Amino acid sequence: MTPEQRQELMRLLGSGEEISPEWAKILFPPEKREYELVYYGKDRAEDIIADTLAVPLQPVRTFGRNGVDWHNMLIFGDNLQAMKTLLEMKKTGKLCNADGSSGVRLIYIDPPFATKQEFRGSQDQKAYQDKIVGSQFLEFLRKRLILLKELLADDGAIYVHLDWKKGHYIKTLMDEIFGERNFRNEIIVRRIRKNIREREQVKTLNYGHDVIYFYAKSDSHFISPPTKLANREGRWHAFDAPGIRSGMDYPLFGHKPPTGRHWMFSKERAQQMISVKKLKMNPKTSKPQYYIEPSEEDIRDTIWDDITASAFTSGYPTEKSEDLLKLIIEASSKSGDIVLDCFSGSGTTCAVAEKLNCRWIGIDCGKLSIYTIQKRLLNLHKGIGNKGSKLEPKPFTLYNAGLYDFSKLKELSWQDWRFFALQLFQCRDEKHRINGINFDGYRQGASVMIFNHMEIKHKEARITEETLQEIHEAVGSRVGNKVFIVAPALSFDFQQDYIDFDKVRYYALRIPYSIIHELHRREFTALKQPSDEMAVNDTIEAVGFDFIRTPELKYKTGTEKRKGDSGEYGFIKIETFKSEAVVREPFKKKGNLETLSMVMLDFNYDEELKTFDLDEVRYSDALQKEGWKVSFPLGQLGKKMMVFILDIYGNEARVLIDATAFRKRLVKKKRKKK
Ligand SMILES: C[S@@+](CC[C@H](N)C(=O)[O-])C[C@H]1O[C@@H](n2cnc3c(N)ncnc32)[C@H](O)[C@@H]1O
Repeated sequence: MTPEQRQELMRLLGSGEEISPEWAKILFPPEKREYELVYYGKDRAEDIIADTLAVPLQPVRTFGRNGVDWHNMLIFGDNLQAMKTLLEMKKTGKLCNADGSSGVRLIYIDPPFATKQEFRGSQDQKAYQDKIVGSQFLEFLRKRLILLKELLADDGAIYVHLDWKKGHYIKTLMDEIFGERNFRNEIIVRRIRKNIREREQVKTLNYGHDVIYFYAKSDSHFISPPTKLANREGRWHAFDAPGIRSGMDYPLFGHKPPTGRHWMFSKERAQQMISVKKLKMNPKTSKPQYYIEPSEEDIRDTIWDDITASAFTSGYPTEKSEDLLKLIIEASSKSGDIVLDCFSGSGTTCAVAEKLNCRWIGIDCGKLSIYTIQKRLLNLHKGIGNKGSKLEPKPFTLYNAGLYDFSKLKELSWQDWRFFALQLFQCRDEKHRINGINFDGYRQGASVMIFNHMEIKHKEARITEETLQEIHEAVGSRVGNKVFIVAPALSFDFQQDYIDFDKVRYYALRIPYSIIHELHRREFTALKQPSDEMAVNDTIEAVGFDFIRTPELKYKTGTEKRKGDSGEYGFIKIETFKSEAVVREPFKKKGNLETLSMVMLDFNYDEELKTFDLDEVRYSDALQKEGWKVSFPLGQLGKKMMVFILDIYGNEARVLIDATAFRKRLVKKKRKKK
C-alpha cells in the first residue's frame, strides 16, 4: 500500500464513509501462484466467503430423544448458505470432534457431475441440456469447496467424488484451494459393471470408473489406511524380480538369477526359507519359487474395483454404495467425529456415519432427498448394505435453512425471535444505546433495531412514519446515515422499503418477506425442485430466504379398474395446484399445475408417530401424461394415506386421506352389482 493510499484509507475510516470494494484488492492482494485455472466469472475466495449469506437454521423436528448435547443435523437448503451458518457455529465452538478439535473431521461430497449433454434419444428420453455448464459449474463447486475448507478441522480430510468429464478441472481447483501438497490420492472406483453394447453408436469405450479426489487439510491429518481381503489361500511366487542388486545374485539350487534380475531375499533368508520348505525349485519352470503365507487383509491401493460406487436401494437416482462410504469414513475419522456431506442425496454418508458411530451433518436442497434420508435413518439396520438387526439412530434434527415456516416463528419467545431476526438479516448481535434509544446490533456498520412486537406496550403498536420520525428526533445524525428496523411485516404501517429523514435512511426489514435489492446487492433466487427423475441431480443455486407458502390445492379421489388387470386401483386427481410463492424471477410461473414438481406418497401414515414415511414419488412430467392422476393399487393402502404435493420452490400442500375415501366407493359399487 502506498503512503497516499494509507492516508486515504485513514480518512475514509475516520469519516465513516463507505469503503468501496476496490479496497479489498489493495488490502488483501491475491496470492501469487505459478499457475492457476482461469475461467470467466472466477471470484476472489475472500469475496466468496464474505458475500455468502448465512441463513438461520430453523428446527423443524427432532427425531429421537431430546435434551442431549449433540443432535445430528439434516439441513434442507442451499448448501453454500447453510455452510456459512455452520462456519459461524465452528467459530463459536459448536462444531467439535471426539477429541475436542474444532470443525468437521471428514467431508465426503458427490456433487452433480454436470456431465449431462444434450441428447436426443428414443421417445422416452427427453432432450435436455445442463442448467449449469462449463465455467459456471466450476465456480458453483469452487465456492462450496472454499467454504468446505474453512469448515474442516485442521487434521481433517475431504473426499470429492466426480467422473471423467469435469474431474480434472476440479482437481486443479482443489490444488488451488487446499494446496497441491495436501493432495493425497486419486481413487478409482467401479461404476456399474455393464456388458451390453448400448454404446454402439458412440465411438468410445464403455465408461468404467468414477474418480474420488482425497485431500488433507494439513500434514497432521488423521488416516487409518483401509484394507481389503487378500490372498486367503497362500500361493507360490517366482523368487526373482527385475533389476540388478548387489549381493542378491548368489547361486541358488545351482542357478544364478536370469540376466537383468535379482533374488527377492538375502542369502541367509533364502537358506532359512529352504529349511522350513518355503523356498524350492519349481520342477516345471526350473526356477526357484517361494511360498506366500495366506493373509486376511492387505492395505488397499487406490483402485477400489472390488466394490461398486453406486447402489439402488432407496429409489433415489444417484445413490452411492454403503461399502464405498464405509471405506472412506473408516479411513479418515474416528468414533464420535463429525462427518459432513453437503450434497447428501439419499443420505448414504449419514447412514454409514451413524452405523460407524460418527456424528453427521447432511445438507440437500431437494425435498425428495430430505424425505428419503428421513425414512432411511428411521429404518436403519446395523450392517453395511442395510443388513442385520435394526439400529435405532441417535437423535437427529431436521432444519430449514432459507425456506422458513412462519407459523413456527410466531411461537418463538422474544429472545429467540430477536436472535432469528438478527441472523436472518446478517446483523451482528451487539446491544447499544444512542441518545436513550436501544438498538440490538449492527448491519454493514449501521445500527439495527429489532422491534419488540411482543411487549405489552407494543401489543397494538405499529411502526408508522411518525414512529421513525420520533426515533430520528432522538438520535439525530449520531446514528450515521442508515438505520435498520426489523419487524413482522404486519407491524409496519407503510409500504416503502425505506424512508429518509434529513440525511438518514431508515430501512424497514420485514419478516416474513423483505427484498431490498439495494441491501442484499443481489437477486434472491428460490430453491428449485425437480419435475422429472433426470433433474434430481441438477446443480441448484439458491440465494436468500423465503417463507413457506402452502400452494392452493383441489383434488378428487376415486377408484378404477384397468384393462387386462383384475386389481382395484385408487386414484387422486389433482384439479387445481397453484403456487403462492413470491418469487422475483423472470421464469416465475403462475398457471394451474405449472409449478407442480412431484407428489410424494406414504400409503400407511402413522398418525401417532406423525412421521412421513416416503413410499413412492411421482414426478410431474409423468403425472401430466396421466392427466394429473396419481393412481395406485388399493392393496397398498393402510388406514390413512399422507400425500405431499410439492411445488418447484419447495413448498408443500399436505393432505391426509382416510382409506374409506376410496373403500366406501368400492363397497357401494359392490352393493350395486349385487
Ligand atoms: C449426486 S447426488 C448425491 C447422492 C448421494 N451421494 C447419495 O449417496 O445418495 C447430488 C445431490 O446434490 C443436491 N444438490 C444440488 N445442488 C445443491 C445445493 N446447492 N445445495 C444442496 N444440495 C444440492 C441434489 O439435490 C442431489 O441430491
